Parts: sequence; C-alpha cells; structure tokens
Amino acid sequence: MKKITVIGAGNVGATCANVIANKDLAREVVLVDIKEGTAEGKALDIWQTSSILNFNTRVIGSTNDYLKTKGSGIVVITSGLPRKPGMSRDDLIKTNAMIVKEVTEKVIRYSPEAIIIIVSNPLDVMTYCAYKAALKDERKVFGMAGILDTGRYKAFIADALKISPKDIHSMLLGGHGDTMVPLPRYTSIGGIPITELLNKEEIDKIVERTRKGGGELVNLMGTSAWYAPGAAAAQMVEAIVDDQQRIFPVCAKLNGEYGLRDVFLGVPVKLGANGIEEIIELKLGKDEKKAVEESAASVKSMMDVLDAMNLFEE
Ligand code: LAC
Repeated sequence: MKKITVIGAGNVGATCANVIANKDLAREVVLVDIKEGTAEGKALDIWQTSSILNFNTRVIGSTNDYLKTKGSGIVVITSGLPRKPGMSRDDLIKTNAMIVKEVTEKVIRYSPEAIIIIVSNPLDVMTYCAYKAALKDERKVFGMAGILDTGRYKAFIADALKISPKDIHSMLLGGHGDTMVPLPRYTSIGGIPITELLNKEEIDKIVERTRKGGGELVNLMGTSAWYAPGAAAAQMVEAIVDDQQRIFPVCAKLNGEYGLRDVFLGVPVKLGANGIEEIIELKLGKDEKKAVEESAASVKSMMDVLDAMNLFEE
C-alpha cells in the first residue's frame, strides 16, 4: 500500500505506526498529532530503526498538517484522552467525541477512499461517531477492540496452561468494556476445546480478568495500555493491506445480525481489502445471547448520549 496514516502520536498511535513500519506494510506511514513536534519526533525515532530492524516503510510525522495524509488507503484514529485510574471508558465520551468527529472530517477531506479504523475510547461509541462524521460505507468504518481483548484472553490462557499463545483460537462478542462477552465455547487450543483443558472455575476467572483487562493496566501504569492496542490495530491493517480475509472480532455496525440493528458492536468479521467483507453470525446459547444483548444495550445507551450532543446535522 502506498500510504497509511495514524492519527494521534500518543503511546497507542506511535506503537501502531511502529508495528506497521516494522512489518513493511506500506511505502509510507504518516503519523499526525496536535502537539507541536511530537509526531515528527516519534516518526523520526521509528525511521531511525529502519536499518537496524530491516524495513523500508518511510515514517513521517506531522503537526496537524492533514495535507501530508492525502491519498491514504487506511487511516487509524487513536486520538482522544486516555483513561486515568478511577475513570471508565465511558467517562471519556463527551471530550473524545468532539475530537474524533473533527479528526474524521479532516481525514475524509484528504483521503475520501480510506478505510478507517477507530481505536479511540469509548471504542464502540467512537466508532459510531466516526461513522457519522465520515458519511461512508459502514463496511469501511469500524473499530479495533476484539483483537486486543482476545489477545489478553489468550495471554491469560497461555499462562494458565503453560502453552504457546500461538495455538489458541478464540472469539469474543460485544462492546469493549466490562460487558464484553468472551466465548469459551468458541475457544480452542490446537483444536482442543478449552473446556477439556480447564475447569469452569478456571475459565470463569480468566473471562473475568479479560473483561477487566484494560482496567488492570490502568491501575498498574496510571494510564491506559499501548503495546497490545497498537499491535492489534496494526494486525487489522495487515489483514486489509494483504487482503488476508482473516476472521477477527471487530466493532461493526449491525443491520439485523444477532437480532440487533443500528448498533456498533464487536462481532466476528472477515477482514480483507474491502474492509469488512462479511459479518459472521454465530449460533449462541441462551446465556450467551443474553450477555450480548446486555452489552448491546449498554453500548446503545452511550450512543444515545452521543446523539443527545447533537454534533451531527440530520
Ligand atoms: C484498553 C484500552 C486501550 O483496553 O481500551 O487497554
């Protein structure tokens, strides 16, 4: 791909740009930030690893000059305030909605064809916000959460079983918050259902720790995580750039899938060159279905908060 842009040169954005460059996913990565010099500095620092780590992707920084992003094939938006201890992702909604709206509009002005990946929190409602601002096909505006959340889930499983995380496959539904729904029934290790390797109590503990996984890191570091969020967004970029048709949990607009409509929620999708190529509907048990509906209701209530801000002309 010719050009990929990452908006926000904070920890998440810079990590994402770094992984994209390390994997040589584009000829050029443009990192944009509002803080004078930050994006230029981090981009230069990453670029200076090119001969050491052996990649060609040129990394360029810009303080708020969106002209440099012109013609991007993919834009990752990480802008917004991160969580501090004691804050939920939802506390950020008002501030970050204004930021995400403004950024998305600028992105679209210079890259009307770009696929947009949202990483800003609260994730599901910020994806909705970007969708409203971008006025684009809903299969080309979606959010990164599920790869991060399953990444955490798999790390905990790998620790519990003392096995390679590479052999773990899993799926997760719902919003990026405490209502997320990891699915042990769709979790396997080298093809073996997890229920044959761990008992219910052990699995429940891992599921609970996954749900609170972001908060665990906020408490440890005083701010939210970046290595896994940045790498997870870069994995989505890779699937699109290489048209991999990979199956990932992604925050997508639902149009009747899972019995839900007009809500942005984490669901399994096939990700390729066109963005979301397909939403995959799993057969859910009664409890799973109930948990997904509760998660959707929680996201919907935050979407209502955004609607009530009247940021968008109807
Ligand atoms: C987390 C934040 C980035 O889950 O949402 O760590």
